[in-house]
Amino acid sequence: MDTCKTHEDMNIVVVGHVDHGKSTIVGRMLADTNSLPKGKLEQVRENCRRNAKPFEYAFLLDALKDEQAQGITIDSARCFFSTEKRNYIIIDAPGHIEFLKNMVTGAARAEAAVLVIAADEGVMENSNRHGYLLSMLGIKQVAVVVNKMDLAGYSREVYENIVMEYSRFLKKINITASSFIPVSGMMGDNVALSGGKNMPWYSGLTVLEQLDSFHSEGLPSDMPFRMPVQDVYKFTMNNDNRRIVAGTVDTGTVTAGDSITFYPSGKRSRIKSIESFNAEPPQNITAGNSAGFTLVDQIFITRGEIAAKSDEKPPEVAAKIKTNVFWLGREPFKKDKNYFIKIGTAKVECVLERVGRVMNASNLNNEKKEWVERHEVADCVISLRKPVAFDLSDEIPTTSRFVLIDGYEIAGGGIITGAMEDQFSDVRHQVMIRNTNWIKSSISREDRASRYKQKPSLIIITGPRQSGKKTLARELEKVLFQNGEMVYFIGMGSVVYGVDADLKSRKRNREEHIRRAAEIVNIMLDSGMILILTAIELTAYDIEMIRTISNPPDILTVWTGDEVSTDIEFNLRFT
Ligand code: GTP
Ligand code: MG
Repeated sequence: MDTCKTHEDMNIVVVGHVDHGKSTIVGRMLADTNSLPKGKLEQVRENCRRNAKPFEYAFLLDALKDEQAQGITIDSARCFFSTEKRNYIIIDAPGHIEFLKNMVTGAARAEAAVLVIAADEGVMENSNRHGYLLSMLGIKQVAVVVNKMDLAGYSREVYENIVMEYSRFLKKINITASSFIPVSGMMGDNVALSGGKNMPWYSGLTVLEQLDSFHSEGLPSDMPFRMPVQDVYKFTMNNDNRRIVAGTVDTGTVTAGDSITFYPSGKRSRIKSIESFNAEPPQNITAGNSAGFTLVDQIFITRGEIAAKSDEKPPEVAAKIKTNVFWLGREPFKKDKNYFIKIGTAKVECVLERVGRVMNASNLNNEKKEWVERHEVADCVISLRKPVAFDLSDEIPTTSRFVLIDGYEIAGGGIITGAMEDQFSDVRHQVMIRNTNWIKSSISREDRASRYKQKPSLIIITGPRQSGKKTLARELEKVLFQNGEMVYFIGMGSVVYGVDADLKSRKRNREEHIRRAAEIVNIMLDSGMILILTAIELTAYDIEMIRTISNPPDILTVWTGDEVSTDIEFNLRFT
């Protein structure tokens, strides 16, 4: 196989109803462009002969898959071939879920698609669903291939009827097909070679010519830099205390020296060096590549954040999002149930909050209802347990995509069309500004944790007046202290009459009292302490506010007293 490194690459996804000939067309393409490893075709033919089964071009993909699987794990059949113009990575997507998963998780960030419809069966529901998925995911270049023309007697009329019917559907979803191509994958007409002998009435492009005339969407490297953080690796050898931030770059480019901000935290640093595991470190890293870099400052970031360039447009951060969901789960997508949403490398618990328009993806019929069933698409508002960073679908499609997980399975996917405010949006914004402007220490959180042999943690003790909060806090502090822990107890009163001395009314300023206490918590936790905070009758809202501001690695909530008088969720209760 001849892959030329200097060429541009293009990802193409092949979709369509089951058995309409996707794999056959891809196999045929590889064979007719001499892209197969030497002897592969003969070997597969011989295998078929020996097992007395008819040869299929689709078998070529399986044969390649087995071969590739020994090297790296791939979750869909991917194969490669090149033309004079560019290198192609062809993704043969075997079903809706695989298609969605590939498109969202990055195995296939396709710039164009080939949608296959068999001439003998015509337009099926899945032909429409896949068309819809393409439009939802923002893939605007679509070639529609009418396959199995040999089974339709190479009839121009059959072909033109399909063109008419499917064009009508595509128009409704705002896609204009780049071309319609009548082919026979089995006979090889109009795939890589002309089918002029069997279809003299067709003078358009072959599939191969069509691929070459797709245009490159403008490299994603020209867009703002986005790299979802996959992991932060720590070197443990030779006192090396570097941390490498690793991930795959979705869009944009960075160079050593660039200032980077992580979202949702808003933490900022400068790239010290770009790292490579077994090659010479590159000068910069660009879209589509797995990458790692070290930072100048020891900031604490975790998987799930998005790295962006500080001087470019930041991603959105929100805990409530407007989405367009494509549901594929057996069980409907419904309210009052917990799901997980995966956006980039972030995985967060979520609930369906509101359902707008619900549509059948194959006939586009509308319905008004409060849940979303299999094969339906809907405008949904989804609430997340924690804020995440993302982009909007009409700005940066890749970082706007997500999948929804029901139990252990991917049950749907979609795109984010809007960020919505929630009750903590303002606080979160302030925290981001604080983090961006934080004066950094040269001692990291890990350094402190290993010196003090403890993880900074927050213990909140709350309950009614006179319920023994302070007694419990003092006892706990004493025990921990005697155990050798770095521990500190602070009562809300100490904040109210000190830091908050300017706030006159305690009731009216309740929220500001909590906010300031949470900022103190943030500093104490940053210093590596185990902090015990007591306050009267905290609510779930107060706890969430403290959590948002101080982002404690660990938080334990204790309620004291016989009666639980707020909506708080606690870990322990003392009566
Ligand atoms: P799934 O991956 O299962 O969704 O199917 P697919 O779309 O990849 O179809 P595949 O290529 O496996 O082809 C399905 C069947 O249709 C096979 O038996 C092929 O031989 C047959 N087939 C594919 N293309 C043609 C064609 O152009 N003409 C004829 N006569 N048969 C074809
Ligand atoms: Mg197939």
